[in-house]
Order: sequence, then structure tokens, then C-alpha cells
Amino acid sequence: MTIDSLKTPTVALGTWAWGDTGETGNGYFGSQMTRAGLEEIADKAHAAGFTLWDTALVYGMGRSETVLGEVLKRYARSDYQLSTKFTPQAAGTSGDPVADMLEQSLTRLGTDYVDLYWIHNPADVARWTPHLIPLLKSGKVKHVGVSNHNLSEIELADQILGEAGFRVEAIQNHYSLLYRSSEDAGILRYCHSHGIPFFAYMVLEQGALTGKYRPENPLPDGSNRAEAYNGMLPQLKALTDKLASIGRKQGAAAPDVAMAWAIAKGTTPIIGVTKPNYIDGLIRATRMTLADDDIAELEALADAANVNTRGWWEQVL
Ligand SMILES: NC(=O)c1ccc[n+]([C@@H]2O[C@H](COP(=O)([O-])OP(=O)(O)OC[C@H]3O[C@@H](n4cnc5c(N)ncnc54)[C@H](OP(=O)(O)O)[C@@H]3O)[C@@H](O)[C@H]2O)c1
Repeated sequence: MTIDSLKTPTVALGTWAWGDTGETGNGYFGSQMTRAGLEEIADKAHAAGFTLWDTALVYGMGRSETVLGEVLKRYARSDYQLSTKFTPQAAGTSGDPVADMLEQSLTRLGTDYVDLYWIHNPADVARWTPHLIPLLKSGKVKHVGVSNHNLSEIELADQILGEAGFRVEAIQNHYSLLYRSSEDAGILRYCHSHGIPFFAYMVLEQGALTGKYRPENPLPDGSNRAEAYNGMLPQLKALTDKLASIGRKQGAAAPDVAMAWAIAKGTTPIIGVTKPNYIDGLIRATRMTLADDDIAELEALADAANVNTRGWWEQVL
């Protein structure tokens, strides 16, 4: 059996915050986005050649997938790629909860296949991974990845898929200047030596690394991300100031440099795009080059910030 290999973009588009759409500032991100604003984001992204969209059923419990499916109706299906996830904790009780969850996602996304289907976390690798095999064979899933898995869980999933002629084709983990556990645990090295794309999520730490949020301008009141990050904003100032000063020399901004850092480390950042002008930042990030000295200095400042940004859903790798 031959598998068409996954085409990996330089940057992918994240839509967790799109799950807040329609809410009045009380969603996970406390973001307020309009349908017209999301369409403008999509149009700018597509014009710039960014066409891989990452979502999950659990982002706003279906809301992110629904609104993404509606917005993408303006393009031919072959012009974009969809990445969504099976989340074990949200599995139903039917005979095949993985196939069921995929069907629900396909309906919401208005399509009959996803380009990349992820097992969202390693709740029970031996139980859930085999369910992906028939979905790959049917063509409803083109490629499979695993997210939030440690190295031995990645290897187990790869072995299970390998017995049917498939493989783990991508990894998706939290990876930012402030959270480099996949590097420390050897997962990044494993990906590079096996030619497996590593998708880095929360490269901007949900906005905390952009320099836009500061103690005097904290993340939106009442949101989950405010609770996670507002207390550490004072410690992040030296790092975000450095990101901004490196950016200024290349006509770029602090978040662009944080993204360029992730690209320089050999990863594909998945960036949560909530405003049309953020697409300009993606373009600048893909054009930047960072000197080794800049990378070393940024990592030293990140270590000196001495904060732990591990998400509540993540295990220690
Ligand atoms: N597999 C998993 O378990 C998992 C977990 C988390 C995330 N993810 C995926 O990874 C994606 C990215 O993570 P994320 O959305 O949580 O966080 P993120 O990408 O670190 O940060 C997104 C936030 O940063 C701000 N931002 C983005 N681009 C910017 C720019 N150019 N300039 C200034 N600010 C900018 C926006 O905040 P404002 O809206 O406040 O401006 C946005 O909501 C998610 O959307 C999701 O697809 C996967």
C-alpha cells in the first residue's frame, strides 16, 4: 500500500478561538468575532497561500467546526486542507465512537473527507488508534497524526498503524519559547530523524507572548486564558521586549519573531488567527531569518522568565 505523503505548509491556521464565535465575550478566549471578520481572515489567508485549517469538535463543542465549514464554502474543496480531531473524552457509546465523531465533524465542516485526523490526546492509545485504520482505508481520512502524546505513546500508535500499512504522519504538541518540553523529551529530534512533520501549537501562548497583553492591559477578563496567563505577564516583559526589538530590525513585530523562532526550530506553527491583520504577521514570519545569537538570547530570556505554561489538558512528556 502506498500513502500519498502529507504536504506540510510553513504555517497552519488555528481556530480554537473561533469556537467563541457568537458568544458575548464569555468563551474560552473571551474573543468577539463576527462572520464578516472571519471571512476576511480566510480571504487574506488564502490569498497569501495559507490553506491548512486546524480545528476540533471540542472547540466550542462544534461551534468552531461549524463556522469554519461555513466560511470555507467560498472556496473549492481542493483549495484548502482540513485538520480536525478525535477527542477520547468526548467519545460516545456507539460501537465505533471514532467513526461517529468523524461523521459529526464531516457534517459540520460540510465535506466528505478530512486531510488530517488527529487523536487529540493519549487517553488510551491501544484502544483508540486501531479505529483509525478503517477510516484511512475508506478515504474519509487522508492522513493521521497524534497530539499530546509522549515518545513511547507515539511509537505505540505508529506500531499499531504500521501493522496495517499506515503510519503516524504528523505530531501536534504545545511548543513555544516558554514551553519546549517536546524538545527536552526528544520528540522534536524523533520527528526530524523520521521525517515526520511537527506541528507546534500555542506558539504565541494564546496571546501572552505577543507583547500586546501587559499587566496594565491584561487578557480578556473572565476568559480561561486570562486565568492561565494574567498572573505571569510581569515576568514576560523582558522576553516580549526582546521579541519586539529583534522584529524592529526587520520591519516585523514581536509575534512575528515568536513564530519565526518556531519555524527556525523546524516546526510548523499552528497560529490562532482571530483578526485579518494577523495574516500579515504570518507572511512576515515566513520571510524572516533569525540569527543563532537571537535564538539563543530569546531562549535564555524565556528560561529566565521561569513560568510554566503547560495546559491543564497536557501531561508531562
Ligand atoms: N492539540 C491540542 O491539544 C491543541 C491545544 C491548543 C491549541 N491547538 C491548536 O493550535 C492553535 C493555536 O493555539 P491557540 O489559538 O490556543 O493560541 P496561539 O496561537 O498561541 O495564540 C492565539 C492568540 O494570539 C493572538 N494572535 C494571533 N496572531 C497574532 C498576531 N499576528 N499578532 C498579535 N496577536 C496575535 C490572538 O489573540 P487576540 O485574539 O486576543 O488578539 C489569538 O487568539 C489553536 O487554535 C488550535 O487549532 C491544539
